[in-house]
This record gives sequence, C-alpha cells and structure tokens, in this order.
Amino acid sequence: MATHTRFARNFTPDLRRLKSWPSMKGSLWRQPYLIELTYAKNFQLVKESIPGKKLKILEVGCGTGFMSLELARMGHYVTAIDRNKDLVSLAKRTASTDPYRKTRGGLTFDIANFDRWTGRPEAYDIVLFSRVLHDMPQPERILSKARVQLKEFGRIICLEYAYNLLDRRAATWLFQIRRILEVAGWTQLPHLPEKPHVGVNKIMRENSERKQHINSYNEMRKPLVKLFDEELLSWHPYHYWDILANMRIPDKRQQKSFAALLRSIEEFLIRSGEIQPVLFRFVGTKTRR
Ligand SMILES: C[S@@+](CC[C@H](N)C(=O)[O-])C[C@H]1O[C@@H](n2cnc3c(N)ncnc32)[C@H](O)[C@@H]1O
Repeated sequence: MATHTRFARNFTPDLRRLKSWPSMKGSLWRQPYLIELTYAKNFQLVKESIPGKKLKILEVGCGTGFMSLELARMGHYVTAIDRNKDLVSLAKRTASTDPYRKTRGGLTFDIANFDRWTGRPEAYDIVLFSRVLHDMPQPERILSKARVQLKEFGRIICLEYAYNLLDRRAATWLFQIRRILEVAGWTQLPHLPEKPHVGVNKIMRENSERKQHINSYNEMRKPLVKLFDEELLSWHPYHYWDILANMRIPDKRQQKSFAALLRSIEEFLIRSGEIQPVLFRFVGTKTRR
C-alpha cells in the first residue's frame, strides 16, 4: 500500500549512514528514526539467527541490499541477487562508497531472477529470504532450489510476511489508528469510512487484494518444514510499517514518539495474545533426507 517512491539523488540505503531523505515521501528511508524502528529491527532478527564467522551467505531478493551490506561488514562472504536492476545498481553504488569496505567480507550484487538463476550447488552456509518468499510463485520449488544451494547442515532463514493471517482484531486496531490520523490530516493512506465495521471490512479487503500477496502462511510453512529441520519459529510486529511509511505528522518530535508508540503497542498486542502477528521468522537446517 505504501506509495511508490522515487529514490533521491545519492540516496544511500545504509543502516550505518542514516540521514533524512525528505523527498522520499512514501518511504521509511525518509527519516532515520523510521528505519531504526523497521528495517534495522528486521536486520537484528536476521543477525541473531546467524551463528559463526566468515560464512558464505546467499540473499535472495536483496532489494536495496542493506542487509547483505551489514552481513558483509560482519565478515561474511555474501552473494546477493535481485531481479530489479535499479535496486541492484543502487545496492552496488552504496557498497562502493561504504566506509567499511576495506575491512568487510566479500560482497557481490547480481541482477538475477532466482527462478532462472543457476547458482552453485552446496556452496552456501546460509540462504536468506527477507520479505520476498510471499511474493514468489511456487514456494516449494523456490525452497527446493534454495536447499540445493546449501551445504549439508546449512541454514535457511526466512523473515516473511503472512498476509492471510491479518485478523479482525488487528484490522480493528489498525482502523482506530488510521482513522485518527486521517481525521487529523496526518496520513497518506487511502480514506477509510467513518463507520467502524465498514472501515474494518475495507482494511480486510484491501489486504487480501494486494497483488504482491501470493503465498499464504501455510503455502510457505508447509514446504519449509518439509525441506528443512525447524530450529526456530518466532513472530514479530509488522502491521505498523504501512502506517509509518504513510504517516505525515508535521512536528518531527511528535512523529518520532508516535512511531515508537505504535510499534510498542503492536508488540504488546502480539505478546498478550490480543492480535495475530503476520511477520514470522523461520530458521531451519538442511539435513540428509
Ligand atoms: C519487499 S522487497 C524485500 C527487499 C529486502 N529483502 C528487504 O527485506 O527489505 C522484495 C524484493 O524481492 C525481489 N524479487 C522478487 N521476486 C524475485 C525473484 N524471483 N528473483 C529475484 N528477486 C526477486 C524484488 O525485486 C524486491 O526487490
């Protein structure tokens, strides 16, 4: 739902060189504190799932490449692919101006569609999918291909969005937040009707109609547990991303506090069992089958 964003000139999607990019209105990258609350949190989840040093890592669908860049800075040898050539050239440009490039591990960005990518069988210790598997047709085939790339006892890390798990309680909470922001004139998200039940239905409908939502939770989960030994499954806040991306509170200090508050409320609602989370982290190992 976030509006399409044009990248600012010299835009640097780098967790260690955060700055304001005011022209990137529909993007979380427009403010450092929005990145700290979103992409940086996701990277933390990935980082804590990677034991060991100097590992060979493949990232599928790396987007702007910020995660691969951080993984290389940790000393790993990273190959990152994405089918979007503009994103790959942005990732390459960012890596080329990295102040840590002399001390980091290997880092290669390639334009490639994973469907057609040949790769190197049994070459990687880790294959990472971050917010991409839900958008790839035939997840079992994709995950089988990822399995082939892994060494024996290599790990798959999937940080994924299970769109179909949005429940009415979460939609009701989102309605409250969105309507308040809309009445105040502080959001770019589409108009929601005033009547709560109509608005909540609209949120549920919008969610199921998004074209990039291809795979449901079970369509990802089933092949994951079929192909890998499950080590970890954990759930994390994610609904708030869309609100933060489209929030327009004029006072930056207020916006920053509001953004942090939203994230902590979602965390609280998840931990107390009030709403169903939609972002899951699966970590699994390849063993002989
Ligand atoms: C939502 S973005 C996620 C980017 C990044 N991994 C993150 O966590 O922010 C999904 C990315 O996957 C890429 N992608 C989707 N299908 C792909 C495929 N079959 N092969 C390679 N990249 C793909 C898209 O171009 C896009 O950059």
